Amino acid sequence: MATRSPSDVIDQTLPPAGQSMGHLALHYAAPEDGPLAARLLSLFGLIQTQALPLPGGNFYRFVVNSGHFARGDGIVYLSALPAPQVRLIETIRAALGIGTEHEHEVVGSYRAMLAADPEASFHFGFLIPSLEELESLVLALRDLTANDPDYRNRIHVTMNRARPGDAAVDARLDASPVFGDCTRFAYGRGGVQVFVETDLIRAGQLGEAMHFEFDYVFPDQASHILSIVEL
Ligand SMILES: [Fe+2]
Repeated sequence: MATRSPSDVIDQTLPPAGQSMGHLALHYAAPEDGPLAARLLSLFGLIQTQALPLPGGNFYRFVVNSGHFARGDGIVYLSALPAPQVRLIETIRAALGIGTEHEHEVVGSYRAMLAADPEASFHFGFLIPSLEELESLVLALRDLTANDPDYRNRIHVTMNRARPGDAAVDARLDASPVFGDCTRFAYGRGGVQVFVETDLIRAGQLGEAMHFEFDYVFPDQASHILSIVEL
């Protein structure tokens, strides 16, 4: 079956109805990482609605935007890894010899895959309403990792430009303070991607980091990175 464009499938003028994305549960490792991870989620643009102190580390509730404050969707929870999961991760990592000279070769292959393509495995993406906001996020993350010792070496940013071909998009990105010198390209047109890897939040197959994605789609694009994947 040929690929269909979104406009073939739905009337995009209709308001959203039916089920929605409910919540995402994230975890940090050490209790002292809780406030740092929470501050990072706030920097990502999430709105913190609750911080509940618990013996093993704070429990936080965030919403993706102010419209979800009292709703049951658009929520991100953040809490400490439960002890059984910590033990499972430690056992997996010991069995693979991670950090030793006998590290299993699959570990290096997995990490190399993620370095080449941060969205190749588990990750979570947010859509940002303006390119300026996305550029400000990248600049703020660069400032944080350069000037705040709590975040140094704990955040890694990778970016993809829109595929070239649209003169207006290309010119805007050439002039961008963060995308101007970007040499990576997305799997589609009309949008850009920013990937943030951080060990302040633990997920993924090795339980050592979380990959977030932040996208912007240029207006009036019939085909873009989030509507059609192009090889
Ligand atoms: Fe993605």
